[in-house]
Amino acid sequence: MQILTTRADLSAQIEACKRLGRTIGLVPTMGALHAGHASLVRKAVAENDIAVVSVFVNPTQFNNKEDLAKYPRNIQRDAELLEAIGAHFVFAPTPEEMYSAEEMNETFAFDFGGLDQVMEGVMRPGHFNGVVQVVSKLFYLVQPDRAYFGEKDFQQLAIIHHMVERSSLAGTFGNLTIVDCPIVRETTGLALSSRNERLSAEEKQTALAISRTLFASLYWAENPDATVAEVQQKVIDTVNAVPGLEVEYYQIVDQQSLQPTDTFRNAIGCITVYCGPVRLIDNIKYCGC
Ligand code: PAF
Repeated sequence: MQILTTRADLSAQIEACKRLGRTIGLVPTMGALHAGHASLVRKAVAENDIAVVSVFVNPTQFNNKEDLAKYPRNIQRDAELLEAIGAHFVFAPTPEEMYSAEEMNETFAFDFGGLDQVMEGVMRPGHFNGVVQVVSKLFYLVQPDRAYFGEKDFQQLAIIHHMVERSSLAGTFGNLTIVDCPIVRETTGLALSSRNERLSAEEKQTALAISRTLFASLYWAENPDATVAEVQQKVIDTVNAVPGLEVEYYQIVDQQSLQPTDTFRNAIGCITVYCGPVRLIDNIKYCGC
């Protein structure tokens, strides 16, 4: 496995792979890798000749500078994990290598088709501009056949699908397939997240109420008299009743449009909760049949 830190070195390797007709799988990450990332990388290794993993804490997607500063970083440990899984290249650039001074400060203009008008898009203004900016840059650099993203960031995944399939950039990325990968949970139910590293042992215990409540809501939704609004409110009240947890939002939305829905059919509930100072997200799909 090679660790590359410059765009020039990455491009040289990609060109060599393309010349040999190798298929390329890309797993974009911000490092602090856990078993959730590992499952994406394993898939990329299994489904492609070459697996490239980017490890880059992207400054342009953080609207909160403190959050950026506190984001866990451990490239040494990440590299060991990636080597063990069989990744071929790790791309770990500095922000200066990735962006020009203008790019770092400009607002990346992109038509999100309304997908950014809800949930994370409202709570973290500019966040998805930064995500699309860095992901499109990675796609141009790596020219992957497949790119792997976790469903924990469901809204991000919807926006990336939109970017690849329906935006003015459609066609730009060739035959790129976006591969959706299911949430990986601890046996306790807690969704794996790099941010879990910032939880104390006690907070981690407290955080279990989030997934527990989401799973309970599947049963609440099965009651034929239950409305979406009622289940939504019950999730918020149940989580908020746990000392140490504070819900920022819980919204049950349509899985495609991400707009509020009044049916459980094709719906997903997306939650953001502060567990002490740490902002956690999770989601649950309702089948509604
Ligand atoms: O999901 C993440 O870790 C990041 O948003 C991503 C896709 C790597 C872009 O920085």
